[in-house]
Amino acid sequence: MTRRQIHLAAHFPGVNNTTVWTDPAAQSQIEFSSFEHFARNAERGFFDYIFLAEGLRLREHRGQIHDLDVLGRPNTLAILAALAGVTEHIGLVGTLSTTFNEPYELARQLGTLDHLSGGRAGWNAVTSSDAFHGANFRRGGYLDHADRYTRASEFAELSKRLWASWQDDAIVADAATGVFIDDQRVASVRHQTRLFDIDALFDVPASPQGRPVIVQAGDSADGRDFATQHADVIFSLHTEFEDAQEFYRDVKGRLADHGRTEESLKILPAATFVLGDTLEEAQERSREIALAQVRPETAITYLEQVWNRDFSGYDPDGPLPDVEPDTGSESAQGFANRHAAVRARISKLREVATAENLSIRDLIIRLTANHTFVGTPEHVASEIDRYVQERATDGFTVVGHLTPHGLDEFTDRVIPLLQERGSYRDSYEDGATLHDLLGLPPVRANAPVGAGV
Ligand SMILES: Cc1cc2nc3c(=O)[nH]c(=O)nc-3n(C[C@H](O)[C@H](O)[C@H](O)COP(=O)(O)O)c2cc1C
Repeated sequence: MTRRQIHLAAHFPGVNNTTVWTDPAAQSQIEFSSFEHFARNAERGFFDYIFLAEGLRLREHRGQIHDLDVLGRPNTLAILAALAGVTEHIGLVGTLSTTFNEPYELARQLGTLDHLSGGRAGWNAVTSSDAFHGANFRRGGYLDHADRYTRASEFAELSKRLWASWQDDAIVADAATGVFIDDQRVASVRHQTRLFDIDALFDVPASPQGRPVIVQAGDSADGRDFATQHADVIFSLHTEFEDAQEFYRDVKGRLADHGRTEESLKILPAATFVLGDTLEEAQERSREIALAQVRPETAITYLEQVWNRDFSGYDPDGPLPDVEPDTGSESAQGFANRHAAVRARISKLREVATAENLSIRDLIIRLTANHTFVGTPEHVASEIDRYVQERATDGFTVVGHLTPHGLDEFTDRVIPLLQERGSYRDSYEDGATLHDLLGLPPVRANAPVGAGV
């Protein structure tokens, strides 16, 4: 029997405490050379795509810019367009919010990227979880969770219709009259609902993939529904083996309701890794990296964000504060449903800290720096393969802890072992689109073409 093939995405490290900025090897998060190195290394390792996350506002903490971040996030589409020029095969996937963008504008930008890259564009369609992003935008306000997903779903549907609105033969080359657009072969797209009122004639021709690949990240029931209707890939956080298998079964089981096959949606959870020549060496390294990821001030800041209180007097190596959170007002972060969410979060923190007898810092390490795969390259390769062969995932979105060299040793030491197992490609097929790399069905056959709602 042929082995199931592993799919890998390379996550460019950015603003969160996974990225270690105190390491002397850490480099710029904005210079093009960083992105270029990262993408070239991932292409050397035959990854399916590189992946950029996005935040639309500098993170704030107690009314000030979060001083554990080194930078915000440079613009996703500009970076991906530049990378299209220095790579040949690898997919280019950017996170772009459905809450704070407009479908027509985003569809043309992504459609353009698909043309520029020869069919390698992808879009991680996120709904963005924090109200405080909204303050950076014209409408200023915020949509509640359900409306964000309604908007996301209509946004994705509309984008697909715009991308499908040009038939492949809409551009006609005529010996007598030259090249022109046959307006019988470009459909107008109308969509009028509570959230949108659009009557559009798309201005970007059908792109090499038919449309960019759509990725989804978000874990609620609404998020899963969105994924099973619209996404080609899910970027999940389910990495514990049984939990991953359950998530996989649940999501894949819902696809038939939408007339989709299992292969049409790939699940690639985020995974961190630490390698060593022996298990002990890898574990020691993992502990050192975790301590760099969660410095004493990181641990205290984490708690302050949950409790919305000043914990500067607390010992990070001591127990959790025995005080109530301040949920008096929607905090500066403006999380939706803050009161219930905060209380649930705190009781979870207390439960884990008590069960495992953890100090503040070790608790935050346990929750945010618990590396997914730790061991020799052989061990890590065999674990990744096991997850895929036993249908816990279709592969992983691999996250390194260093910018931009964090995945170099994964490419050097783990990829060859996956190839030896016969579960991973050892070349790219010429002209393959991102859909092809991911083993997704071709788009044109399913594309919704036509005008009007
Ligand atoms: C793994 C993962 C990665 C995410 N990355 C981003 C991101 O880069 N930018 C963003 O604005 N939102 C991001 N989100 C937020 C989601 O789009 C969504 O708004 C949030 O998770 C709330 O939806 P949910 O209740 O369905 O999880 C991410 C969510 C998950 C689970």
